[in-house]
Parts: sequence; structure tokens; C-alpha cells
Amino acid sequence: MTQTVAMTVNGRAVTVTVDDPQMPLLYALRNDLGLTGPHYGCGLSQCGACTVHLDGASARSCQVPVAQAAGKTVVTLEGLGTPDRPHPVQAAFIAEQAVQCGYCANGMIMESAALLARTPRPTEAQVKDALANNICRCGTHPRVVAAVLRAAQG
Ligand code: FES
Ligand code: FES
Repeated sequence: MTQTVAMTVNGRAVTVTVDDPQMPLLYALRNDLGLTGPHYGCGLSQCGACTVHLDGASARSCQVPVAQAAGKTVVTLEGLGTPDRPHPVQAAFIAEQAVQCGYCANGMIMESAALLARTPRPTEAQVKDALANNICRCGTHPRVVAAVLRAAQG
């Protein structure tokens, strides 16, 4: 049955109309709202490419039914910062050149930003632990960790 879901996305009140309330939030973000920062990687909560912030905490949007986001606040990579005013993690990823193909970068950045929001000065071990379940097929993990530590110092 068709259902309308109202939520706040990147500071803007939006509604999406869906046929299936169990449809992943990721699909609504990408297909209905045109926010292609979050990527589809595995669809199984295993890679992290689809990560967004849901009420301030990181969430894998491929596993969140869109109906569960009703009334909640969603932030995507697009809402984290802008080209003119990037989030410190985004700026650090650029400075450390922490991206190769870039497919995982959304998840790495959104997970790292959530980490720094709750732990502003993490140890290297805490960064590695927070990103342990974010998969990068290109092997950029050492640069990603360096970028997060750089952002934490900034
Ligand atoms: S696409 Fe969501 S965790 Fe892989
Ligand atoms: S940079 Fe290619 S998957 Fe991470």
C-alpha cells in the first residue's frame, strides 16, 4: 500500500511516497531525492558504502526501511559539508588523498564523522576499530586512518 514518509534530510523537510514501506532508505535517498553520496555496495549491511547519519548516529541505509526514518533526521554526505565549507573529515580525506576509486569513501567519511562526533580525539586503534567493518576494495585503509587522525587534530 502506498505510504508517504516525512523526514528531515540535510536540514530540509521532505516527503517521499513509496509503494513499499520496507523499501531501503538508501533507495529513497538516491532515487527519490537524488542524493547519490550514499552508495549501494552489498545491500547486506556488510560494506558500509551506504552509510548515513540517522538522528546523529551512523546507519547503514541499505538496511533501514524507509518507514523507519519517518520523523527522523537524516544527514547524507551532501549535508555533511559543501565544496566551499567541507566537514573536517572531508577536508582531511582530500589532504591525505585517501581515495582511489572512491566507492567506499561515503561510508568511510560518514562513519568517521560519527566517530569524531562522539570521540573527538580518538586513538589510532579507536579509528581502526570504528572502520573495521567498512570495506575498501582498493586498499586505502592506511590513508583513511591518517585522514581521520588529521581531522581529529584540526
Ligand atoms: S550497501 Fe549497505 S552496507 Fe553495503
Ligand atoms: S577507494 Fe576504491 S573501494 Fe575504497
